[in-house]
Amino acid sequence: MPRYNLQRGTLFFPHLFPREGYLRHFCAGDLISSSVPQFDSRSNGVVGQKPFDFIRQILNTEALSRNSRFIRACNREAVDCTPVWFMRQAGRYMEDFRTLREKYSLLTLCKTPDLAAEVTMQPINRFDLDAAIIFADILLPLEPMGLSLEFIKGEGPSIQNPIRNKKDVEALRPVSPNEDLQFVMEAIRLVRRGLKIPLIGFSGAPFTLASYMIEGGHSRNYIETKRMMYGAPHLWERLMIHISHVLADYLIAQVDAGAQALQIFDSWVGALSPEDYRIYVLPYMKSLFSALQKCQVPLIHFGTGTATLLTLQKEAGGDVIGLDWRVCLDQAWKLLGNDVAVQGNLDPVVLFAPLSEIEKRVDDILRKAANQPGHIFNLGHGILPETPIEHVEAVIEMVHKKSTR
Ligand code: CP3
Repeated sequence: MPRYNLQRGTLFFPHLFPREGYLRHFCAGDLISSSVPQFDSRSNGVVGQKPFDFIRQILNTEALSRNSRFIRACNREAVDCTPVWFMRQAGRYMEDFRTLREKYSLLTLCKTPDLAAEVTMQPINRFDLDAAIIFADILLPLEPMGLSLEFIKGEGPSIQNPIRNKKDVEALRPVSPNEDLQFVMEAIRLVRRGLKIPLIGFSGAPFTLASYMIEGGHSRNYIETKRMMYGAPHLWERLMIHISHVLADYLIAQVDAGAQALQIFDSWVGALSPEDYRIYVLPYMKSLFSALQKCQVPLIHFGTGTATLLTLQKEAGGDVIGLDWRVCLDQAWKLLGNDVAVQGNLDPVVLFAPLSEIEKRVDDILRKAANQPGHIFNLGHGILPETPIEHVEAVIEMVHKKSTR
């Protein structure tokens, strides 16, 4: 008799999930028990567990996440108050993180599931946040593709063998996320076991990752990236298709492991004109977002410096569009239309201002969002390492209090 490993699977709940149809994708992270049970088709149940208990467990965690402020806001449903989380909420502004970093490199933290899970939980245990984000880095898929990745103190990421020509693109390896990036999936499963709020999985976007792969690190002018885009468009196309496939598989694997929402970081796409975005980025973003539809989790599309790209980003896809502080939230939302949710958009540097000034800025964002369904409060970009921790705490409290419906 066949047995199915329930790590990846689909259950049929026609009457319980009428809105989505009858297919409900679920994953090991939905299970509260620590071992992944086996499904026995003969008894139609789970070995060692009563089938009803098992299904109830899945539904309980599903219902919890589904009714959370964060997921409801992603779906533009009514909330009791505005949900809030911060990009890079696990990081150097927290003493607990700095202590661990003294002992372990960033890559070791990312590649050791126990440590990655611990770091993910540090801000959750300290603050009243509405979502957790798995501790990882957008550059992790580069290593299994065949690139060398290092984080150099004071300089940031560095790739010794950047992609420059046809031979380099052809040498890129396919990635099996459940093997090559298994540590991320394991960390997601570990975090989900004790977590009461939704867990966000993430990846970089094809352009932002391509820029690191081609430049070999952070860049100011993206000369090599644009040289390939403009000078070897077919090569660029091959590279973007390869990266998009890797990212789709990686993100789907994160949902299978237990991620309940996904954020795609296109942090540096603001370097492009709208015309270039349309030609060199939009097709690959569209195919990535369409591949992710089957995950049935909210998709957050984030970029910075994208004031002139917002409508194209919406066309590319995403249930939520991330806004940075360079745009006015109300104007940007009007431009995007009220059929998407928005996330943002406090300047991370405002967290260094006196509390009275911070309060004014929080008020301003909440006034612009006007308690419309579909606003998730966040910074316009990642939290900075020197940020005063009390100010982080104060902003979370202000958002919840001031936005209570
Ligand atoms: O949000 C979270 O709490 C999850 C953790 C997370 C990290 N990186 C850990 C990290 C996330 C979401 C990222 C995404 C990421 N990584 C992006 C997109 C978001 C953004 O900020 O634009 C980018 C561009 C990267 C690549 C990257 N990783 C850079 C440029 C750097 C060096 C710059 C810096 O802040 O030091 C990193 C290192 C990195 N990734 C750190 C953390 C906590 C700091 C490393 C350290 O502790 O020394």
